[in-house]
Amino acid sequence: MSATSAPVETKHDLLTGTEWNPAQLREFFRLAAEIKAHPDRYCTVLAGRVLTLIFEKPSLRTRMTFEVGIANLGGTAIFLDHTSTRLGEREPIRDIARNLERWVQGIVARVFKQKALEELARNANIPVINALSDRFHPCQALADFFTLQERFGALSGLKLAYVGDGNNMCHSLLTIGARVGADVRVATPEGYEPEEKIVAAASRVARETGGKIEILRSPEEAVAGVQAVYTDVWASMGQEAEAAERERAFADYQVDEALFSQAARDAVFLHCLPAHRGLEVTGGVIDSPRSIIYDQAENRLHVQKAVLHTLLT
Ligand code: CP
Ligand code: NVA
Repeated sequence: MSATSAPVETKHDLLTGTEWNPAQLREFFRLAAEIKAHPDRYCTVLAGRVLTLIFEKPSLRTRMTFEVGIANLGGTAIFLDHTSTRLGEREPIRDIARNLERWVQGIVARVFKQKALEELARNANIPVINALSDRFHPCQALADFFTLQERFGALSGLKLAYVGDGNNMCHSLLTIGARVGADVRVATPEGYEPEEKIVAAASRVARETGGKIEILRSPEEAVAGVQAVYTDVWASMGQEAEAAERERAFADYQVDEALFSQAARDAVFLHCLPAHRGLEVTGGVIDSPRSIIYDQAENRLHVQKAVLHTLLT
């Protein structure tokens, strides 16, 4: 907080995806749909506002959709490239946060450690948005469920199978999936399960929303009859040294035509991208008419504009 400004009563962040309850999420998706349908009505909501994007890792989609989204809303984005130095190396994260809050109205951060993001948020009295951390990727999961809602109408009871690594993407699909009342089935090899704490929290929410969370071993069991099959890379950014070992561990977890054919007849394929064709998914599945990967990518833009609108106005 700046020394001269009065304390802001409610500073809103998006750090984990647990910030919004199911009713707020429904309202959020209505806003995203409205912004997507009528972008011109929202072209000045960030007029005069500046946000910074601090990224410790590479990005195509997240950087582009935030920069384009901020511009579409009438604001300005300034990209701070932190891909060659980790946050906290040159100066404490607390000092970065306390400087930034004096100049800009919001921070979008892609970090290695969720803790770094939380330290930024604790020390900057401006909204902080998670643009991917080691534990969560909430903006992606929000865009994914929005895309599924467009496709299937309702999210309540929708069956989604996530096959692969119990990583940040998996955690966010569990967290948001539980809140929208979906039936999320995760299949991972032994040793690559999602964090128990995140699964337990999602299961508690699912009990209230009528959703369902299942952590399984068998990809076939997870995929049987579902409307949506999702996968992500086997080695996330920062895990490149483990790539060979992970390729062995995940060999039976590829989403190929045989596995995908066990989903429902109207099932769609999702991937947050970037993808490795021939590893976690075959080219035949990801490039098929059932794949909605580019709809997901497009919706990052509309959904993040709704995130910015919700947190900054
Ligand atoms: N899906 C996603 O976040 O892509 P980028 O890493 O390119 O931002
Ligand atoms: N799990 C991936 C997601 C990329 C959008 C990673 O963290 O690299």
